[in-house]
Amino acid sequence: MRIPEATVDQIRQAADIIEVVNDFVSLKKRGSNYIACCPFHNEKTPSFSVNPARQIYKCFGCGKAGDSVRFVMDVENIGYGEALRYLAKKYGIEIEEQEQTPEELLRQNERESLLIALNFAKTFFQEALLTSDEGKSVGLSYFRERGFTNPTLEAFDLGYSYDQWDALLQAGLQRGYKREILEKAGLILAKENNKVFDRFRGRVMFPIHNVSGRVIAFGARILKTDKSQAGGASPKYLNSPETEVYHKSQVLYGIFQAKQAIRQEDVCYLTEGYTDVISLHQAGIKNVVASSGTSLTTEQIRLIGRFTPNVTILYDGDAAGIKAALRGLDMVLEEGLNLKLLLLPDGEDPDSYVHKVGADAFKTYIKEHSQDFIDFKASRWLAEAGDDPLKRAEGISDVCSSITKIPDLLKRQTLSQRVAQVFHVSEQSVISEINRLLRLQQEQVRKTSDRQKRAPGQEPRQTASSSALAAESVDDINALLNELEIDTAPAFDESAFGGASALEVPQERATATRTPISYQEEECVRLLINYGSQELEPGITLCQYILSELHEINFQTQPFDHILTHYREAYAQGVILTAADFISQRISSDRHVQQQVITLTTPRYEISEGWLRHEIFVPSEEEISILADAAYRNILRIKKMLAEQRMAVLQQQLREVNKEFTEEVDRILMEFMQYKRIDMEISRLLGTVISG
Ligand code: UTP
Ligand code: MN
Repeated sequence: MRIPEATVDQIRQAADIIEVVNDFVSLKKRGSNYIACCPFHNEKTPSFSVNPARQIYKCFGCGKAGDSVRFVMDVENIGYGEALRYLAKKYGIEIEEQEQTPEELLRQNERESLLIALNFAKTFFQEALLTSDEGKSVGLSYFRERGFTNPTLEAFDLGYSYDQWDALLQAGLQRGYKREILEKAGLILAKENNKVFDRFRGRVMFPIHNVSGRVIAFGARILKTDKSQAGGASPKYLNSPETEVYHKSQVLYGIFQAKQAIRQEDVCYLTEGYTDVISLHQAGIKNVVASSGTSLTTEQIRLIGRFTPNVTILYDGDAAGIKAALRGLDMVLEEGLNLKLLLLPDGEDPDSYVHKVGADAFKTYIKEHSQDFIDFKASRWLAEAGDDPLKRAEGISDVCSSITKIPDLLKRQTLSQRVAQVFHVSEQSVISEINRLLRLQQEQVRKTSDRQKRAPGQEPRQTASSSALAAESVDDINALLNELEIDTAPAFDESAFGGASALEVPQERATATRTPISYQEEECVRLLINYGSQELEPGITLCQYILSELHEINFQTQPFDHILTHYREAYAQGVILTAADFISQRISSDRHVQQQVITLTTPRYEISEGWLRHEIFVPSEEEISILADAAYRNILRIKKMLAEQRMAVLQQQLREVNKEFTEEVDRILMEFMQYKRIDMEISRLLGTVISG
């Protein structure tokens, strides 16, 4: 279903990039921009930058870039329409849409259908809890017993599933939801005999939200609290299965309700259960999430890392809790986060303990009892070791092994001092233990990679022989080039023209090998979208100059050719496109185009100086001559490279042609010499225009 154009504009106007991004990552002001660790790739130092003036974001690490809508699409992994709907909801903008028919629902992509079905189920369970007799007498009274207030029920969308075989299924079918979708959403189960029934029956329901607050799954608790029931046929908590929209290793229960507080408090409390999150939230400690039933995963830790670098693990003080805490410990360190641990008194979990002692005492307990991982591990080892020096050595080694997981060298160094103090040994011995462990790990890595290399058998030989072949042919060409007196030195000098592309080059190179000409095409596009309408001399705009020089030449690299083609087409209609036209996706919905244009209009060195400079480009005469020079050289370089490409083709032909066909050989040589002359002429021109 289409959203009216006017509404789209309204949404785009309202969606402030800072506000939108800030819902997902914690932005810090830096000059006129905001920075954060990138939500799209894993990093420890921020290279993700948001520019409020231009309403765009760009990551200098992974290259992702875009506007508010693109950000929501990428971070939530949803489509354009869905992203607009998300923003409309955030800004209270009404989208006029008709009630959707089942056919229309079907047409939407499956992910979205599942989310809609899950949202329907959430509402169904909520209504059951709050308005039905069964829900009120069974579900609501259970929640009341646990001390949950109305605002809490609402904040977590808690609900109740009727103790019937197919209450949800029937309601869903009646509303036009296909059985297949309900099944794929994990809401109903189909038996082999084709009998279908609700997955959750007679349980209190805990919806699981994603970061942006959409329901993606459910946890459902049995009502009988006695142990015999819990340990019997049905588990205490029944959870949604993995679905298209629910990957439990990537989800933290409560993250939607907690993210704001996590940012504000700059620490995230990590618990084990649904009720721990809810009870602490109700007590005013809102920066809490739970790994809910799975042992902590790296993805979950990274999710926390998007909001704060500080994690405190709050686990039960029993053996299982300690074991779980130790398992999580190294993983958190490995992700470069700062870790504290807190064990609650034996037999208590955060939920029971906060009910017992109250919010203030709980906060005090956290403050007084959180330990960093060194103290946490050391106190356990020292208690066990007593005077046994062997056990102590084992303890030191154990703590050191955790330290080796920390990516930051500086941090490792400071921590070795702490270990020395805690275990009463010299710092030097701690450092050598860390180094020994690091060497061991490297050895391990080398061995596994050796084994992997050897395993496929013929693979290494293949690469070796193919690269030898490649070297041979390069030698061939070079020999030929020498004979023909052709300069094999790189054809262009990136540093000669201080454009943004030269600065951007290294990271992009890291991801893919690029042809030399692609850098020139990039520079050409950069000039066009930044300075297209600038007059280089009276009556001649930069765009006019470049397009006429390029004439019918197309670029060889995407998205540059794509951009050039749009630019050319618009110019034929008398319109000179600018970066904004591409960034808003008015011209092309190709995301590579959008990203590339942002990259080209956002030189890296300006990150600290403010990105506005290029937008208010009012060049002086001197700057115009620099610009003209840049355009001129760029065109020459492109032509030179094209000439060189053609020469390479001709050389190849020369090698393959039967030397007895002298006419053919002559033709090739003639054409070759022609290009050679062009090439030399351009080299001469380039030599003269490079200003000292
Ligand atoms: P707990 O057994 O500690 O439950 O399991 P709890 O959170 O304290 O729940 P209450 O207070 O008895 O209601 C911790 C977490 O492990 C998952 C749930 O996410 C639970 O919150 N779990 C537990 C399951 O997924 N299935 C189970 O059968 C039990
Ligand atoms: Mn509990």
